[in-house]
Amino acid sequence: MRLHEIHHRSKTQVNVKHLMFVLHLLTIVPVLHPEVSQEYPVYPVVAAPGSNITLSCFFPRSETDLLFNLIVVWVHGDDMVHSYYKATDNMEEQSPAYKGRSQLSPDQLAVGNASLRLTGVRASDHGMYTCDVANEQGRSKKQIFLAVAAAYREPELAIQTTCDSIILTFLSTLGFPQPTVLWRTKTGSDITNRSNTTMVLKEGGKHYEVVSEMVLKQSDPHNWTVTFEMRLELLNQTFSRSVSLRPLPDCCGTSVEPRNRLFLLTGLLPLPRVCSKTRLLQGRF
Ligand SMILES: *[C@@H]1O[C@H](CO)[C@@H](O)[C@H](O)[C@H]1NC(C)=O
Ligand SMILES: *[C@@H]1O[C@H](CO)[C@@H](O)[C@H](O)[C@H]1NC(C)=O
Ligand SMILES: *[C@@H]1O[C@H](CO)[C@@H](O)[C@H](O)[C@H]1NC(C)=O
Ligand SMILES: *[C@@H]1O[C@H](CO)[C@@H](O)[C@H](O)[C@H]1NC(C)=O
Ligand SMILES: *[C@@H]1O[C@H](CO)[C@@H](O)[C@H](O)[C@H]1NC(C)=O
Ligand SMILES: *[C@@H]1O[C@H](CO)[C@@H](O)[C@H](O)[C@H]1NC(C)=O
Repeated sequence: MRLHEIHHRSKTQVNVKHLMFVLHLLTIVPVLHPEVSQEYPVYPVVAAPGSNITLSCFFPRSETDLLFNLIVVWVHGDDMVHSYYKATDNMEEQSPAYKGRSQLSPDQLAVGNASLRLTGVRASDHGMYTCDVANEQGRSKKQIFLAVAAAYREPELAIQTTCDSIILTFLSTLGFPQPTVLWRTKTGSDITNRSNTTMVLKEGGKHYEVVSEMVLKQSDPHNWTVTFEMRLELLNQTFSRSVSLRPLPDCCGTSVEPRNRLFLLTGLLPLPRVCSKTRLLQGRF
């Protein structure tokens, strides 16, 4: 799902038991005004796994409002993230998923700021949050979409040559979640299923290391131009790298040499000429 496609999604389902509890409290709030709803637009917030984030929520108040009559409920799907009433945090109904990770600031609540601080962001925190506030001014709701994502680093290209093939390997790290990977020929045909891509979670689930390998046969020089594409839809991040290789004559011995490894950052052009005893290549990106 793209961030920009997140508009008005269905209202977050509030734990029924909890909602009844909130409504019960509402009836004892001295002056009950009609519901003030502020559900649109939905602001997307991006946080990397393991990071800390503050989800903003402000509510109307008057100088004379008592903190004691304020109720704040933060929910994510069916999970109760944090609730506050009678001037204190109510952790009893908090989902275990958020235990010890959520925080409201009492000083800020007193001035109309019910922003939630969430520490140690996890992949499962991804999704829509609702900040539901009731006070002497009435009730207000705000929705915030928290996208748990991290941008990938520029892919690095490594080229290995053997006597009969060229192996292109792209490496990209520090991103989250998994990107889509696509390989194309010069003419645009999808040859992704001839590649070998591995995506491994690193640092206890904080990010992926993506390694994608394509083997080109030396005997098939007409398709030595290939394009590697990597896309992280959530952040609209796209890398597209074309690699053109062409053999140069008279550098081909007959013996089989060990693989010749070259590490290059993409974007460096032109690729320096490489002459192993068996192959000489020139590449362009
Ligand atoms: C997140 O907050 C916690 C507690 O406030 C702190 O110990 C930790 O260093 C913070 N982490 C990051 C990535 O800032
Ligand atoms: C609202 O409260 C949060 C902490 O709960 C704080 O980080 C933020 O700066 C406050 N915003 C304003 C505008 O005061
Ligand atoms: C790759 O995909 C094409 C069509 O999408 C299919 O015809 C071909 O058999 C697949 N090759 C492999 C090795 O999976
Ligand atoms: C893909 O790469 C992994 C790790 O290098 C290897 O074990 C596996 O056999 C490869 N698969 C294919 C289809 O090449
Ligand atoms: C090379 O081209 C042939 C046909 O033109 C195609 O079937 C093959 O998949 C291509 N291989 C690569 C690595 O592009
Ligand atoms: C995604 O990125 C491309 C190029 O970086 C940009 O042209 C396009 O407007 C972006 N789309 C959205 C919806 O942000």
